[in-house]
Amino acid sequence: MRGVILREAGKPVEVSDELTLRRPGPGEVRVRLRAAGVCHSDLSMCEGRLPARLPMVPGHEGAGEVVELGPGVSGPPVGTHVILSWIPPCGTCHLCLGGQPNLCTSVTPPSPPTLSIAGEPAHAGLGVGCFAEETVVDARAAIPIPDDVPFDVAAVVGCAVLTGVGAVINTARVRPGSSVLVIGCGGVGINVIQGARLAAAATVLAVDPFPDKLVAARAFGATHVSTPDGLADAVKELTAEGGGFDYAFEVVGRSATIRQAWRATRRGGTTVVVGAGSADDLVSFSAAELFFTERRLVGCLYGSGDVRTDFGRLLRLWRAGRLDLDGLITRRIGLEEVGEAFTAMGSGEVIRSLVTF
Ligand code: APR
Ligand code: ZN
Ligand code: ZN
Repeated sequence: MRGVILREAGKPVEVSDELTLRRPGPGEVRVRLRAAGVCHSDLSMCEGRLPARLPMVPGHEGAGEVVELGPGVSGPPVGTHVILSWIPPCGTCHLCLGGQPNLCTSVTPPSPPTLSIAGEPAHAGLGVGCFAEETVVDARAAIPIPDDVPFDVAAVVGCAVLTGVGAVINTARVRPGSSVLVIGCGGVGINVIQGARLAAAATVLAVDPFPDKLVAARAFGATHVSTPDGLADAVKELTAEGGGFDYAFEVVGRSATIRQAWRATRRGGTTVVVGAGSADDLVSFSAAELFFTERRLVGCLYGSGDVRTDFGRLLRLWRAGRLDLDGLITRRIGLEEVGEAFTAMGSGEVIRSLVTF
């Protein structure tokens, strides 16, 4: 089988035809990939800024078709179109039952590993490994969607859209008329912006160093845009008494931008950390500022969503013309161009690169 492989963190990814995929075991299904988005977390894993088991087939934002069921698996049936979830909900733990299935840790990566390369075991990135022709996943990671949804649109729902829109509607529950700041306008940040539009935010300031990203941000609903150096002035101009935004979303994944988001949040407002930062990048807050300003600092994993219902909900919003998913995909590539797509991500030209099969 053909796929992208990362052998060593910090080294370029390679394309190999020598991957082998084992058959699905009990509780597993085999999925043929049809489209897979290139998310910044893939790049962070390849660079060693997020943990990963190596060698690894990266890619965690994918959609495809079920082609085989493991022994005793009742569904989804062969032929079902699915979005892959990189946090499969077990459905029975206290977090799943309590309405926070995005925090479920009960479904562990497939064991033994589903992949091998030249006889050596290899791991599917985030349990799904979408940058390959096929994958074997836990059946609970394969979320059925209607047959008529294009795979391209479905793929981006699998991470960027749920993470970004979910941050607004699930994590922060932005109220109509609010002021919203979004720092970082990549594939995820653009979805925070369109989530804020959907939630009827009155002011949406988008911040990114790249002018092209700011043009895209406006098209997706930002009412104002700024490069990072203009943020302090924009806070003064755009927010009540210059006191900061009701909600500030950090969508870069770095301590410096978390501090910027926090500083630009009003007293009693909410800072949401959407970006996936590294374990050794420390952010500091004084005891006094946490107490006296009553600002809330909240994390956001996978848009605080429930993939079993939110994928469908987001697709219905797309069908209704309330979310632009087609416009997110700015570049269609083959597996051999994933390495280039990582580079393009740092250059600011591309919102989302999509591997099509
Ligand atoms: N201030 C504002 N924006 C910045 C800054 C900064 N200091 N540094 C980088 N950016 C912008 C980039 O220009 C880019 O537009 O942040 C954006 C990041 O977008 P992508 O690289 O497309 O990443 P994306 O896939 O959107 O993921 C963003 O969310 O899921 C996590 O791991 C992911 O941490 C990453 C974040
Ligand atoms: Zn992602
Ligand atoms: Zn669970």
